[in-house]
Order: sequence, then C-alpha cells, then structure tokens
Amino acid sequence: MNLKDEFIQFFKSKNHVQIPSAPLIPENDPSVLFNTAGMQPLIPYLMGKPHPEGKRLCDYQKCVRLTDLDSIGDKTHHTFFEMLGNWSLGDYFKKESIEYSFEFLTQVLHIPLEKLAVTVFAGNDEIPRDEVSASIWQSLGLSPKRIAYLGVEDNFWIAGETGPCGGDTEIFYFRSNDPVPEEFDPKDDRWVEIWNNVFMEFNKDSDGHITELPQKNVDTGMGLERVVAILEGVTDNYATSIWKDVIAKIETISNKPYEGNETSMRIIADHIRTAVFISADYAGIKPSNTDQGYILRRLIRRAIRHAKKLEIPMNSDWILDLAKVIIKEYENYYQEIKDNQEVVLEVLKNESLKFNRTLEKGLKEFTKLINHLDTKVIDKDNAFKLYDTYGFPLELTEEMAQEQGFTVDVAGFKEKFKEHQALSRTASAGKFKGGLASSGEIETKYHTATHLLNAALKVVVGPTVHQKGSNITSERMRFDFSCDHKLTDEEKRNVQELVNKWIIDDIPVTMTTMPKQEAVKSGAEAMFIEKYADIVNVYSIGDISKEICGGPHVKHTGELGKFKIIKEEASSAGVRRIKAILE
Ligand code: SER
Repeated sequence: MNLKDEFIQFFKSKNHVQIPSAPLIPENDPSVLFNTAGMQPLIPYLMGKPHPEGKRLCDYQKCVRLTDLDSIGDKTHHTFFEMLGNWSLGDYFKKESIEYSFEFLTQVLHIPLEKLAVTVFAGNDEIPRDEVSASIWQSLGLSPKRIAYLGVEDNFWIAGETGPCGGDTEIFYFRSNDPVPEEFDPKDDRWVEIWNNVFMEFNKDSDGHITELPQKNVDTGMGLERVVAILEGVTDNYATSIWKDVIAKIETISNKPYEGNETSMRIIADHIRTAVFISADYAGIKPSNTDQGYILRRLIRRAIRHAKKLEIPMNSDWILDLAKVIIKEYENYYQEIKDNQEVVLEVLKNESLKFNRTLEKGLKEFTKLINHLDTKVIDKDNAFKLYDTYGFPLELTEEMAQEQGFTVDVAGFKEKFKEHQALSRTASAGKFKGGLASSGEIETKYHTATHLLNAALKVVVGPTVHQKGSNITSERMRFDFSCDHKLTDEEKRNVQELVNKWIIDDIPVTMTTMPKQEAVKSGAEAMFIEKYADIVNVYSIGDISKEICGGPHVKHTGELGKFKIIKEEASSAGVRRIKAILE
C-alpha cells in the first residue's frame, strides 16, 4: 500500500473523515496564486464554524510553493508537492495529536524510536513554554535529550500574516547511516523535519494582536515526497517510487542515463508535473503573461529548455508522453486529472509548439549576445527582445545568463515591460511584478458594476438571464448572458437606468465567507459552481444581488460613477453581449 492510502486508512481508524484536496488555484483568495498548505481552505472552521464533515478530518492535499523555484534541480525540492494532514476542529488537542503521530510513525511506518527527535515551542512574552507537549513526548518514551525548545521563528506557525495560528511541535528523522547522536541538535542537517503538528488555539489580527480562538484545533502537515524518500532509504527524492516511471521515461526519450544528467531531468520532471496539475485544475488556467498563467508558461518553457539541453528531439511528442506517465500516476487520486487529461495535453502541446517556433532562434540570439557584450550585464533592451520576440520569460533569461556568468538588468526590463504594457493599453502591467493577482481601482469598480448589470438584466429582461462570461479591462466591461432575443432600446434604457439608480442609492457591498453548499442554498449565484473551492466568498449588494465571487469589490455602489451601455450584440447562439463603461 502506498503512503497516501496508509495515512488515510490510519486516520479513518481514528474516526477522521477524509475530505477531498482543495483546488490548487484558490478561487476566492486573490492574495495567493496557489494553495500552499492543507489548512488554508479550512480557515473558517479553525475559526469556529462547524464543518459539515465533523470535527476530525484528514486528507492529502495538493500544494504549490514558488519560494523554492530556484532550488529545483537539487535532490529535495519540488514546486508541486502533496501534503498529508489531519485536523481536529475543537476536538482533541495536544495529547491525542502527538499520540496519533507517534503511533503512525512507529507502528504503521515502523520507524524506530531511536531515529526520532522533536522540537517544541519555547514560548515568548505572551505564550508559555510548551511543557505539555514535551511531557507527552516523554511519556511515549522519547528521551528529554531528543526534545529541543525553539522560539517563534521555528515553532510558531501561521499562514501569512494574520489568521489562526499557534505553537507547534515538529518531528524530525535522522536521515543518515552515521550512528544516531544521543542529543538532538536541530541545526544538524542529518535531522530532517517530517511532520509538523500545529496547535492552533490563537488568532492574530492585522494589528498583530493575539487572542484565543473559541476552540482549540490541531493542524498537521507531513510532506509526502520527503517521507517516501526516508521510507525507501534514499536521499534523492527523485529516486523514489514516486518518480521512478517519470525519470525512466525521461531517460528513454533523451536516450541518456539519469546519472550525470540529474539537474535537467529533475527540473523537467518537477516542472511538467506541476504544469499538469495547474492546467488540470478546474479553474482552467492557460499559459499567459500574468498570474498563474505566467507561472505555468515559465514552468513549461524552462522544462523545454532543459529538454533541449538533453538533446531531446523538439519535434517529437516527448512532452505529451511524459505528461501521460504523470497523469497515470495521479488520476486515481485526483478527479480533475482524470477529467481534464485532454485539456492538459492540449495546453502542453500548444505551449511547446509556440515556444519551439522561436526557441532555436532565441538561443542563437542569446549566444550571439553574450559573445558580443563588453560587460557582464544583459541590458534591458536585449532582455526585453528575448522576452517579446523569442518568448523567453525573464527568469529563463536570468537563469541562462547566470550559467554563463552574466546578470540581467531586471529593473530596467520591468520598466521597459511597463512602458510596453502602457503602450499596448492593457491593464495587466501591475500584475507582472509580484506575480500576484491585483486589480486596480477602476477594475474593482467594473467588478461591482458587473454584479449590478447582472441583477438589472434579471429584473428588466427576466429571471432566465444568467451570466455566461465576463471580461474587464481598465477601459470597459464586457458581459455575456443567456437571452433569446436582441434587447430592445427600451430594455437597454431600463437596464441602464436601473443600474444608475442603484449607484445613486449608494448601497453597501458586503462579503461573507461560507461553505459552497450553504452559499448555493442561500440563493447566491455562481457561473460555474463546480469551479469553486469548498469555502467561498459571497458578495451581496443590499438585497439586490448575491453572487459567489472572488472579488474585489467597492464598499458602496456610490463609488461607481455613471454607468453607460455602449453596445449590445450577439455573442453566440442564445447568448448576448453587453459592453459598458463607467464615466
Ligand atoms: N499548516 C502546517 C504546515 O503547513 C501544518 O499543516 O506546515
């Protein structure tokens, strides 16, 4: 049996209910591009909301973390990884949590006690030292010398800046053939962390104040790739059973052995796996130059560059053959991988066709460039040319430059990028920098205007009107909706007047977070309900509109100015399109 199944089976035997992994793309949290921890979708329940599945939950969770992007190619890092987790939502606390972890590690995985050590929270001015956890560990047979007390930086866990948080106890495994030292030194890197049990009993607000949550929770996370490597006795995560078929496939298509080509093979393996998961997500992400789409593009293009290094024939279907191996590995665990295989293959195929068209020329251009430069810096114009003409993501140029001992004028590039965006009058320039979803003030207004238009159409044309699509730029909004006729002038006028009346009424816009089923039950509208995470944000405008939506929105409709329909036309069969502006 594999580790995922063993973990779930164990926690089910301890009365936990298995919940599905949340989507990789958080639908309602524009502050993060990807889900980075299993607890993220559970925040409202950690804060006290009853969870429909009860107080004991477990899952395996898809995560993408981009902080390690530059480390990919070594033995232990991944952009996509799976995390095993169990939760107590105001049910058991430290004692059972530690006992369950200990039992699973020693009884199910048969890890000997001698190879284990833990850290516990040393406390600070506000929170006492965690002697409770330490004594539980001792009662299980762990020597006090194997328990280290660490401070806030190491043993206090919070996702980001605010929200549920608490001290944690981290479990370490001695990953070496050396004799195990009697005393645990957390700085000795032969000890690797395998499991983090967070005791979430506090909430941190935006002023930095810590208050007690209404309930004491447990949130644990165990990195699957690392633990599998330990259990299989290898120090290279890519040498485990998880990657065996993938690496073997790369060896076949490149006709080269893993040994001696590890870095490129790991990058290809990691990046294509992540690309498969991002493009399979129900959010429908496609390669682009902003947000998640840009990350997807970067990953695919970087993988292609390394495939070229390995002399994999670019005109072959290597990328699809590899993706199929990955799909097979995961389709029984994740429904979207099963449902969206065709989409994934299409994305990979199109993106590689696109990049391959310019890759060869771009590489030549790059070589010419570094051979002719008098300095060791690739200037902004050349970096931008590589991006704009040859499709090299900035980070790819930087990586190639670095390999040759060059750097890139990144600030200059970004300036140039912005100028270019301003010239082409698109609204996405701001998104490039941090890679975060961002919406300007005007786009935010259009978001809210979209909800008002949707509501007005239902009043004027009829309740059968449903949103079919929407697109917002800083200049206008576009709204597609189901409707069997061309709107009459009177209908258009009435819709416009109604929206403007609601704007003048200055109605407050409010947001509540709730489980998806509850939102639907309460009558909130959504375009593609299956696309949303289990926990959704519902935006209400007084009692005239209620929609599941990622936002952002204005606080009062009065902020919108004047709404004007500039065009009404057919979009497709049974679907009309309105273009409108705010003045
Ligand atoms: N939230 C904690 C982590 O991500 C435990 O799940 O490490």
